[in-house]
Amino acid sequence: MLEKIGRNDPCWCGSGKKYKQCHEAFDEKLADFKSRGFQVPSRKLIKTPADIEGIKESAKINMACLDNVAKEIRAGMSTEEINKIVHETTISMGGIPAPLNYEGYPKSVCTSINNVVCHGIPSDDEILQDGDIVNVDCSTLYNGYFSDSSRMYMIGDVEEKHKKLVETVKLSIEAGLKEVKPWKCLGDMGHAVHMFCKERGYSVVRDIGGHGIGKEFHEDPWVSFVSKPGTEMLMVPGLCFTIEPMVNLGKADVFQDADDGWTIYTDDDSYSAQWEVQLVVTEDGYELLCW
Ligand code: MF3
Ligand code: CO
Repeated sequence: MLEKIGRNDPCWCGSGKKYKQCHEAFDEKLADFKSRGFQVPSRKLIKTPADIEGIKESAKINMACLDNVAKEIRAGMSTEEINKIVHETTISMGGIPAPLNYEGYPKSVCTSINNVVCHGIPSDDEILQDGDIVNVDCSTLYNGYFSDSSRMYMIGDVEEKHKKLVETVKLSIEAGLKEVKPWKCLGDMGHAVHMFCKERGYSVVRDIGGHGIGKEFHEDPWVSFVSKPGTEMLMVPGLCFTIEPMVNLGKADVFQDADDGWTIYTDDDSYSAQWEVQLVVTEDGYELLCW
């Protein structure tokens, strides 16, 4: 049960406004959706304006890392060099690389090449080759707030079918974003991403998804990109999450490297691409926080 707040008491969101002038109508609307069977977010998932500012500061560092990678990335470079760029950019701007030591993860960034779907571990022994497609997934903790985004980089002369894959996944996020509006469901967004990719002949990974994010690296909701319209959590103003579909040229099935416990590969060795953005739902749509 939520504690009962007087209408003239300060709002639970910390705005300093009276409850009746702040989240009272919001709470009533949420309760109504809940009574009709919708999954609704708990209060602790709703970001305040101060939280959003904090996430944006963190995101400045995260995006600087990916910008710096873009300047340097080339054939002949090891993925460990990408790790160094991300690590040094983050530290020099006062941040902490969120992946480092996260559940035992050994590096400051994930680098996932070709048939690696996600969570590839940078290594001195892994050298980027002409024609590779590589996802660099960067996450930052700064002043108590997490940011998270990933981009694809194409190395030299990339085959047309792989370029298409990379471009389609980026566009699928745009298709998903069109569905991000308050009081719609996450499943509306996930379904749009799925259909966009499926219609173009690709498969979307089912086992790994996006996530809520803020003062925690990964929090509710879990975000599927193969969901059905009208299902999953209600998107409400202040909900902050990632859209990060992993899309395969072949089948959707994936497996985890038994030795390193992290790297995820496509089952059929087909190429896989991913982009990731972080957003907050607003009163009339969304605001991108990190990309
Ligand atoms: N950045 C990834 C995500 O989008 C998480 C990586 S966790 C790590 O959720 F430990 F592998 F870095
Ligand atoms: Co993420």
